[in-house]
Amino acid sequence: MSQRETWATRTGFILAAVGSAVGLGNIWRFPFQTSANGGAAFLVVYLAAVLLIGIPVILAEFAIGRRANVDAVKAFRNLDKPNWRFVGAIGILASFWTLSYYSVVGGWVTRYIAGSVTGNALAAPESYFGAVSAGVPAVITHAIFIAVTIGIVAFGIERGIELATKFMVPSIVVLLVILAGFAATLPGAGEGYAFFLSPDFGVVAENWQSILPAAFGQALFSLSLGFSVMITYASYLGSDDSLYADGLAIAITNTFVGVLAGLVVMPLLFAQGVPPGEGGAGAVFIAIPTALAELPGGGLVGQVIGVVFFAVVFIAALSSAISLLEAVVAYAVDTFGIARAPAAVGLGIAGFLLGIPSALDTAWLDWFDGLGVTLFLPLAVLAVVVFVGWIMGGEAVDELRRGSSLGVGPAWLWSLRTFVLVVVLVVVALNFNDLFL
Ligand code: PHE
Ligand code: NA
Repeated sequence: MSQRETWATRTGFILAAVGSAVGLGNIWRFPFQTSANGGAAFLVVYLAAVLLIGIPVILAEFAIGRRANVDAVKAFRNLDKPNWRFVGAIGILASFWTLSYYSVVGGWVTRYIAGSVTGNALAAPESYFGAVSAGVPAVITHAIFIAVTIGIVAFGIERGIELATKFMVPSIVVLLVILAGFAATLPGAGEGYAFFLSPDFGVVAENWQSILPAAFGQALFSLSLGFSVMITYASYLGSDDSLYADGLAIAITNTFVGVLAGLVVMPLLFAQGVPPGEGGAGAVFIAIPTALAELPGGGLVGQVIGVVFFAVVFIAALSSAISLLEAVVAYAVDTFGIARAPAAVGLGIAGFLLGIPSALDTAWLDWFDGLGVTLFLPLAVLAVVVFVGWIMGGEAVDELRRGSSLGVGPAWLWSLRTFVLVVVLVVVALNFNDLFL
């Protein structure tokens, strides 16, 4: 049996994990969620969620992965807790499930790059979105997007995922900074910033029952937690570096990109008097193109900015889709001994087929998204927290001690056992209440 792959560099691992975390969530959800829920006041709540829940849980997934050095199901066998394999299995299922429709949206984005080049996407945004987001055109772009994802995952960790994300993640940041610089020159920029970030603590105080769980749920989804992705990525770590530092770097970069996306999107929408709306598909695929079409410069400026903007969204979506497929592929490779390339192709095609309903009709896409985010994700996170807190326990603390002399391991473990567990339980209960009652 050949040696299992590892990341070539620590930076490579961090960038791959950031690539997973930075995705559609940062661009089409986070800025709008922030502006709708008290601006900078929401940001404070969100930062607390990242710090108090996101970082402890990402460290829990890292501890499982690096300790076991194998896919997220077999990991529990390597940790001598085979009955807990279902924990990794839920996450892998969530990844496969999410890949199916994430790729459909990735296909739309691909189409919008072309549509910005020709100008068609900006000419009549609403009807363009209607035409490309459902039916056969959407199936075709879904196929293209997932084929690119398969192509990268098939090349493996070092020559595939690490090499690709090493270029992708810096590109996202650099291009977003350029776009934010351009957006700052627009006449409505100040109004956009104010709408995005002016703090309104009253809103948070009044609606904390809905805002707190929303912020905690978004923090988990945004850091790709509960998908077995961070378990899998950490399983390719060979060295004994500080997982604390890595987790912190990933969380900071992910939050930074979300704020940066808001600094691009909000001025753009305000400058052209386009209502920001509630985010989601309507914001990215209709409101933004509408605003782009109205930029001065006879349409050409709008097209150029459109190409750059949708290229950023494409890269962000692709580096997330890669991680979703990898979590599933690693399982096929490590647990069943299937070779990587055929596993990537076979599972990618299966994900494509599962995504066809979402491509044909966006109502299916919403259904897949809703179930994944409100059911699979919180359940998987809950299982990870219980497992690491109460079953793995001291062994997890030992794992974090490898490569770090920071003495916070016991405090981290107790936070998982108590506070984090309670918060995640509340999120699960609230979601169940919304879903079934
Ligand atoms: N973190 C991604 C986002 O914010 C979503 C994602 C979750 C990607 C899990 C991969 C794995 O869009
Ligand atoms: Na994210």
